[in-house]
Amino acid sequence: MFPRLLTAKSVAIFALFIIPLLLGGCAGPLSTLDPAGPAATAVAWLWWAMFAFSTVVLLAVVVLWLVAMRRDPDGVSEEAARRLQNRWIVGGGLILPLASVTVLLAFGIPVGHNMLPVAADGEDVLRIEVTGHQWWWEVEYPGKDIRLADELHIPVGVPVHVHVTSEDVIHSFWVPRLGGKLDAIPGRDNVLRLVADEPGTYRGQCAEFCGLNHAHMDFTLEAHSQEAFEAWLEEAHSDE
Ligand code: CUA
Repeated sequence: MFPRLLTAKSVAIFALFIIPLLLGGCAGPLSTLDPAGPAATAVAWLWWAMFAFSTVVLLAVVVLWLVAMRRDPDGVSEEAARRLQNRWIVGGGLILPLASVTVLLAFGIPVGHNMLPVAADGEDVLRIEVTGHQWWWEVEYPGKDIRLADELHIPVGVPVHVHVTSEDVIHSFWVPRLGGKLDAIPGRDNVLRLVADEPGTYRGQCAEFCGLNHAHMDFTLEAHSQEAFEAWLEEAHSDE
């Protein structure tokens, strides 16, 4: 009865309506699957790898389930059934999860390493300090007397270490197209490494529920070319 659900009509409906609906969420200013920097690219790759892996697991489980439903239990002796059961417990309960976790770790650890705020020897890093408040982001450029609300400006191609903390409750700093999210915790200095590959305006959003206006605690990150960033610094500094 299950295979009958897979009629040509239901497959066509899925292809026509559901897939575009699902893929529609892959683009846009807040999409992690539309990366614009190395850290976000790593996140997107990890997401696609886990999606592919979980799809394989889902299909395998469905196939096994269909096979099990069609099996004739009377044709197997008790001894053979017990042996088969043991084989499934060792294979499916021990070997498969161990192999899966090993593959995911082998892929995930190097990807995660890419996102660590570690500067290479002699690398130029821009430091920005961001403090979460209910419900806005305070942005400071140390040594430059620049304080902004809900906007960051960075140069393209230069690693930026964003030092994130909070003045009240826990928030989470997130620019989906540039990198992963990082919690802003009172009394703690968490560091997020971001690089923008292309100039442009990127949207950011608080990603930890922090009270009534959490959903509106957004910000913009403007990535400028090197010269434009220098000009902006000069101007922002003289405005203070
Ligand atoms: Cu700040 Cu949610």
